[in-house]
Amino acid sequence: MDHRVLSFVSKSITPFSLLLLLYIFPAAETAANMTYKAFNLPTITFKEGYSPLFSDFNIERSPDDRSFRLLLNKFSGSGVISTEYYNYGFFSASIKLPAIYTAGIVVAFYTSNADTFEKNHDELDIEFLGNVNGQPWRFQTNMYGNGSVSRGREERYRMWFDPSKDFHQYSILWTPKNIIFYIDETPLREINRHPAMGGDFPAKPMALYATIWDASSWATNGGKAKVDYKYEPFATELKDLVLEGCIVDPSEQIPSTNCTDRNAKLLAQDYSNITPERRNNMKFFRERYMYYSYCYDNLRYPVPPPECVIVQSERDLFRDSGRLRQKMKFGGSHSHTQSHRKHRPGRSSRRRNKVAGGASKSGRRGSAAAAM
Ligand SMILES: *[C@@H]1O[C@H](CO)[C@@H](O)[C@H](O)[C@H]1NC(C)=O
Ligand SMILES: *[C@@H]1O[C@H](CO)[C@@H](O)[C@H](O)[C@H]1NC(C)=O
Ligand SMILES: *[C@@H]1O[C@H](CO)[C@@H](O)[C@H](O)[C@H]1NC(C)=O
Repeated sequence: MDHRVLSFVSKSITPFSLLLLLYIFPAAETAANMTYKAFNLPTITFKEGYSPLFSDFNIERSPDDRSFRLLLNKFSGSGVISTEYYNYGFFSASIKLPAIYTAGIVVAFYTSNADTFEKNHDELDIEFLGNVNGQPWRFQTNMYGNGSVSRGREERYRMWFDPSKDFHQYSILWTPKNIIFYIDETPLREINRHPAMGGDFPAKPMALYATIWDASSWATNGGKAKVDYKYEPFATELKDLVLEGCIVDPSEQIPSTNCTDRNAKLLAQDYSNITPERRNNMKFFRERYMYYSYCYDNLRYPVPPPECVIVQSERDLFRDSGRLRQKMKFGGSHSHTQSHRKHRPGRSSRRRNKVAGGASKSGRRGSAAAAM
């Protein structure tokens, strides 16, 4: 493909422009090993920002240390953590997910401080949920603040591309004012800090985590479709690593780092600015690809939590259960409504899993999540 076309594609690909592109360049989506690099940011090596979290034997770093693979096999999943904690920041990586049969698998890219604040942790999630053969990956975003584990704030979405085919850049922006989740340069969701949220808005230092693990009990069709180790190892690859923000020591009672200037810098970046074009793309994405939102789930929250902005064009698409009025066009699992305790490995499982054995799905940390 012509170089200019490629650079145009990688810079400006959005759900909306994709429709156009598929029409003009039918091959665009299928070009091999395409990478969508957003915001033109300097990237770091694994060593410059990351540490193994658990099951080191399932973490494969590239020779130049700019990318790594996380494996899940019958012994264990695997995970990494940023070496530092950040009090607000921008966390980003280009990710390619496992292909073929991925039921029961969860790949998570998230910030948390559950290892430091066990009872009142904060968390921001992008979680990819595998699917049965031939069915696409789905994903969810979520937020917890100061231990608000009984108040999940999930949204669930389909994707406008096959995330196992190419690298797309997934980002979490977390500032004192707002939170934005991105795929490439398309904002998916913005949470503006509302005073009534109190501690529910994450405000304590968090680290970045990337993990792959066996979530057979809930991830696919409400737990009916489980990981099939006939297809092991399952590998997800990460590169274009970006960690920006104010580095702090989470154990300090009185912070010795003044983050005021660093956070002002964060707010001045391109990714902190939802331009009118980006806002249009966000609207387009949400109306076509979102299939669950806690803000529209009136059975769960008769009064939507304070940060919810009811967008009528979105609201019209959902029943009071927060589910879509019209069935999705492919077989999904959104009709399952039971709640599950979700478990995933924390830092402690690194110790526990030193000896290979026992898939690391029984982390000590559990947070409530509705499985849809
Ligand atoms: C794509 O990447 C894989 C390994 O990641 C490599 O084996 C293959 O040759 C690449 N294909 C192209 C067309 O560059
Ligand atoms: C966070 O939780 C702790 C412990 O439960 C509590 O003491 C503190 O006031 C809470 N902070 C906010 C901002 O709600
Ligand atoms: C932090 O830095 C800002 C700007 O440099 C300054 O205005 C503020 O007083 C400082 N805060 C503390 C607690 O030192």
